[in-house]
Amino acid sequence: VLAGPVLCELPQLIADTTRLVVVTDAKVRRLHAQSFPPGEVIEVGQGEGAKSLETLQDVFQQLQRFGLERDGMLLGVGGGLVCDVTGFAAATWLRGIRVGLVPTTLLAQADAAVGGKNGVNFGGIKNLLGTIRQPAFVLCDPVFLQTLSPAELSNGLAEVVKAAAVRDAALFGFLEANAEALLAFDSGALSHALFGALRVKLGVVERDECEEGERLVLNFGHTLGHAVEATLGLRHGEAVSLGMVFAARLSESRGWLPAGRAARLEQLLRRVQLPTRLAGNQAALLAAAHRDKKRIGNRLRMALLKEIGEAIVEPIEIGAFEAALSNLR
Ligand SMILES: NC(=O)c1ccc[n+]([C@@H]2O[C@H](COP(=O)([O-])OP(=O)(O)OC[C@H]3O[C@@H](n4cnc5c(N)ncnc54)[C@H](O)[C@@H]3O)[C@@H](O)[C@H]2O)c1
Ligand SMILES: [Zn+2]
Repeated sequence: VLAGPVLCELPQLIADTTRLVVVTDAKVRRLHAQSFPPGEVIEVGQGEGAKSLETLQDVFQQLQRFGLERDGMLLGVGGGLVCDVTGFAAATWLRGIRVGLVPTTLLAQADAAVGGKNGVNFGGIKNLLGTIRQPAFVLCDPVFLQTLSPAELSNGLAEVVKAAAVRDAALFGFLEANAEALLAFDSGALSHALFGALRVKLGVVERDECEEGERLVLNFGHTLGHAVEATLGLRHGEAVSLGMVFAARLSESRGWLPAGRAARLEQLLRRVQLPTRLAGNQAALLAAAHRDKKRIGNRLRMALLKEIGEAIVEPIEIGAFEAALSNLR
């Protein structure tokens, strides 16, 4: 994983590849085609609905048409959606070919493109199909971030706040002190935030690649977050923001997290323009939470906080989850 002004490394990283197919979406292609290496291009749709088996099938059909063989390579250039779909396609095409990722949103640079998880949604459930398989390389270049909308920037900051909340109190303090600079696309502040989030994620993934234990802490905010994303149609980071407030309050009410910390988290999220108040159909949310992948029997394995910068994973009864949800207004 290379981060910084690293796009210049791309030609060398793909030099020994006989055949390269770029996977992207129309918007990224329009804004950043000048950064694409030569080769065929496959465009996938935009919006969470496009993270589907139909999209994957379309990608496979084009790969078949191009005749991409085992020595070929896929290069995903785009946000988390493009990276997830490209990673999954590469992991399964001909039982697995090489893949490189060039994430172009802050969310994908700080989180989605690193760690090897990929996948598509299925049956109304987020990421139900997918694999864990490491890409050959990930290039996180800040040049892409300058074309993000303010809403997409905030969306990415949600995963940076998450990384800080679960493993890095100093990064959390930095985000508090630099919220305005981050929102103003200040490149120094963004780089510091990105490097901090990458350090947390890569550290956790190196210790527990297959999510047998510690990696679950990166799911902080995602139990309710995925339910919100699936039912209310918010952006991933926005949904995770609501999920983090919920999980922090639940942590406080269980006595694991000292009083006042949930409010501190909520304040930072508000300052970086993320939603913290849930307005939605509670029954639909609960139904979605029941379908959570990390549910075991009537318990949800949730990432909760012991302190800002220290997360734990605890089983939470669905009933307790439901009660906490009705307090989140
Ligand atoms: N695999 C993982 O570990 C992991 C982790 C976190 C999130 N995710 C997944 O990532 C997805 C969300 O990713 P996302 O937030 O990047 O959304 P996204 O990929 O849907 O991109 C959002 C929008 O931003 C546009 N865009 C991309 N790069 C741009 C740029 N440089 N300038 C302007 N616009 C640009 C895209 O065209 C798209 O319209 C979700 O599906 C989520 O589940 C995966
Ligand atoms: Zn996430």
